[in-house]
Amino acid sequence: MNKNFTYYMPTKIVYGVNEFNNIFKYLENQKVLLITSKGHIKRGLLDKLKDINIVYVVDNIKSHPEFKDLENVYKKILQIDFDIILAIGGGSVIDSAKYLSVYNQKKDINFVTKLIKNKLKEKYFIKPFIAIPTTAGTGSEITPWATIWDMDEKKKYSLHLPDLFSKIAIYDPILTLSLPKDITIQTALDTLSHALESIWNKNANEITISYAIKSAKLIVENIIPLSQNLDNLEYRDNIMKACMYAGLSFSNTQTAIAHAMSYYITAYKNIPHGIACSFTLSLLIDTIIGKYDFIDNALKEIFGELSSNKLRNIFKELNISINFRDYGINDNDLEYLQLSLQNNQRADNSLIKDIKWEV
Ligand SMILES: [Fe+2]
Repeated sequence: MNKNFTYYMPTKIVYGVNEFNNIFKYLENQKVLLITSKGHIKRGLLDKLKDINIVYVVDNIKSHPEFKDLENVYKKILQIDFDIILAIGGGSVIDSAKYLSVYNQKKDINFVTKLIKNKLKEKYFIKPFIAIPTTAGTGSEITPWATIWDMDEKKKYSLHLPDLFSKIAIYDPILTLSLPKDITIQTALDTLSHALESIWNKNANEITISYAIKSAKLIVENIIPLSQNLDNLEYRDNIMKACMYAGLSFSNTQTAIAHAMSYYITAYKNIPHGIACSFTLSLLIDTIIGKYDFIDNALKEIFGELSSNKLRNIFKELNISINFRDYGINDNDLEYLQLSLQNNQRADNSLIKDIKWEV
């Protein structure tokens, strides 16, 4: 763990039940570009925002946002005069909002794509954005990067700019009450992965570790009860807090090897992100135990013991396999997966190196 470190979090965090209802006070006298999903519009989101001056709505965001779709939206919004972006949705919506917030002086249509793919060093500007997560998992509301996919290339890209933080993140656990069971579980497991990944991480420091432990404990204690009682606000609140604490941690460390592996698994096997980045966690815990005191201590605090048994039981109870084969990954795939970890920046963050693969 780094003894000397910096920690940076410029986002104003607003947390609490019904805080969504106070959104007007952050948007007074501003022209707002709303980015959300069709589902939220269908469920009456615009009625709840009727006091806000919304000048344009983007509601065609798909999960795993792709360059080609975002470029089409980008073309359109370059012609619109707005002061601030309001992103209401899950990780894909917030990541898309980040892509759409960046522009250059000439407002080139391909600017952000080139910035990402060609690693341009050109000067850029960022429109301020407010992020309101409606799932408890992504963390994107308080991280300075966005995941963008090119499914033709079967490749995940990252738009990572040091100042790509939201202006305000509003966490209201009420917004997650209506989420179905599968999304609830997947997003909570994504959070657990964010927390653990920021622990076995070469960028870890005292601040990030303490947030990560808090986050992972909340997931371990609440994920099973919530999965059995989806409309329990107390469990929803705890899982959303876990999402926030994981964000406070991995926003400063980035993710590591579980996420690095997940991108191959999502691109080639079409496995949802929250599962792809978490079903390997028990294997990773077994690999890292005994290697670093600070990681052992953190794991003991989270699970009450230095073992992956509790996590294995959680996956069993949730009926989620931790076996590569059940995700269509055979020995051949596994070789490609391992190759995909070479020169992979997220994998390089990892303190876990020699994985004891169990296929
Ligand atoms: Fe993730």
